[in-house]
Amino acid sequence: SGSNQFCDAGFGSDKSAHEISLSSSKILIKGGTVVNAHKEEVADVYVEDGIIVAVEPNIKVLIFFYLGSHLNTWLLGQPVWQESGAFFCVFSVDVATKVMNYVPSLFQWTLSPLTCCSRGVVGAHSSFACKVADDVTVLDATGKFVMPVNGSLTAGFKVYEKKAKKSCMDYGFHMVITKWDEVVSNEMEIMVKEKGINSFKFFMAYKGVLMVNDEVLLEGFKKCKSLGALAMVHAENGDAVYEGQKRMIELGITGPEGHALSRPPLLEGEATSRAIRLAGFVNTPLYVVHVMSIDAVEEIARARKTGQRVIGEPIAAGLALDDSRIWDPDFITAAKQEPILLSFLYVMSPPIRASGHDKALQAALSTGILQLVGTDHCSFNSTQKALGIDDFRKIPNGVNGIEERMHLVWDIMVESGQISVTDYVRITSTECARIFNIYPRKGAILPGSDADVIILNPNTSVEITAKSHHFRSDSNVYEGRRGKGKVEVTIAGGRIVWENDELKVVPGSGKYVAMQPFSYLFNGIDKLDAKYLSSLKAPVTRSKSTA
Ligand code: URP
Ligand code: ZN
Ligand code: ZN
Repeated sequence: SGSNQFCDAGFGSDKSAHEISLSSSKILIKGGTVVNAHKEEVADVYVEDGIIVAVEPNIKVLIFFYLGSHLNTWLLGQPVWQESGAFFCVFSVDVATKVMNYVPSLFQWTLSPLTCCSRGVVGAHSSFACKVADDVTVLDATGKFVMPVNGSLTAGFKVYEKKAKKSCMDYGFHMVITKWDEVVSNEMEIMVKEKGINSFKFFMAYKGVLMVNDEVLLEGFKKCKSLGALAMVHAENGDAVYEGQKRMIELGITGPEGHALSRPPLLEGEATSRAIRLAGFVNTPLYVVHVMSIDAVEEIARARKTGQRVIGEPIAAGLALDDSRIWDPDFITAAKQEPILLSFLYVMSPPIRASGHDKALQAALSTGILQLVGTDHCSFNSTQKALGIDDFRKIPNGVNGIEERMHLVWDIMVESGQISVTDYVRITSTECARIFNIYPRKGAILPGSDADVIILNPNTSVEITAKSHHFRSDSNVYEGRRGKGKVEVTIAGGRIVWENDELKVVPGSGKYVAMQPFSYLFNGIDKLDAKYLSSLKAPVTRSKSTA
């Protein structure tokens, strides 16, 4: 045995290992099941310089030695995993988070510093995309949502680009459209053609702040279509929500329950239907973010049955929670500090719904009516939430989820038997990557793909608690929740970033993932347009009638 010998990575050990020149950029993972959306197979994964080089059974690689029977044997900085029964899954893509969002309606920056992103995203769990700001972090798997600055997309992009510089995860951006004029239209083109943005979000709620009307939706959808960019909507009827809020205040209902009561599922269903029909009228694909209710699912299902290209994204909170907490009157003392009002933590939009909606969202996901799971991670601490102590309208909207998503989806969907392990990869990773046009660089464990991999042990359970989470908030909406399936190791871009319950991220190591327009969702749109046009041009013959 010597420095030039090929050793079976699974057997043999070598006293002269130290003579071998090793680079820390190589990783061999052995002894588990590699899960992709298209199949699962017992295989090893070999990584070099951040890229997956081989996925095959019994990979033998020079310089790797098996040094013990336990997980995680290190040889001169080279990790070799010997796992049995573990699943190697694609490191996931969290499509919609607001790790660093300034939500103007609420005049608060979301909280999620370096650690959040890192672990949330990197860490055990979530998306590949994450960026870190000074004291706030933004993450969005395929994008964090970039807010325009004074209506300028270019200025908004600059702000978020800067904030993302310290990201420890690969990240991308979606961009929010808040108004319509020629400048915005031209800037959208610049964002797509020069900045790597291929999706735009339109808010149908947050009246007077972010909300756009149908005219903006139509103009925006048309522009998205011409650019090959995906239109996304926050679907709630903002005018009606405004009315509902006034009604609650008049009735003297000022607590968090007023939030839920002021914007019932009905209003989510209406806006979802409207957005879908307008996108259908324009003939452009539509992505409905944070689908929270049966009402919205029914609209999506109806449209998909007619063949319309509509993507529905439930979020971890929608699958895992119901509204019972919102009526909770009590203060609780959280892990880290001051007593907090638990009920305030659950305030997000669209609201977390009554029990029953959660099960329906799960079922829709398991049957393909909904396609993928995001988080809408938008986390505030209890002090920020308490700004709405006298008026629910002032409670910053948003819940956490980025760090918890992979665990929750495993437990709720796979452990319960509702979906297969391959579908787990599809709804947490692969479909996201396809929709945002970064597949198979992301979303697959294939030769040539980025080495973003989690090692998940299905037999270990995890407890979610603010005591051990990694984002900066003092509280967690899943506090105390136990579930099966633990992410034991996370490799991001060929780096081990989570191992032994420890976060090992390198700020600034995350790369910006530019996303090309015209994903598969646009394939064939031109043919449908041509068909529509030819149907309009069918000759109509009229003769003068004598009536
Ligand atoms: O409550 C939520 N979802 N907060 C983030 C802003 C939004 O509506 O996406
Ligand atoms: Zn984070
Ligand atoms: Zn939203």
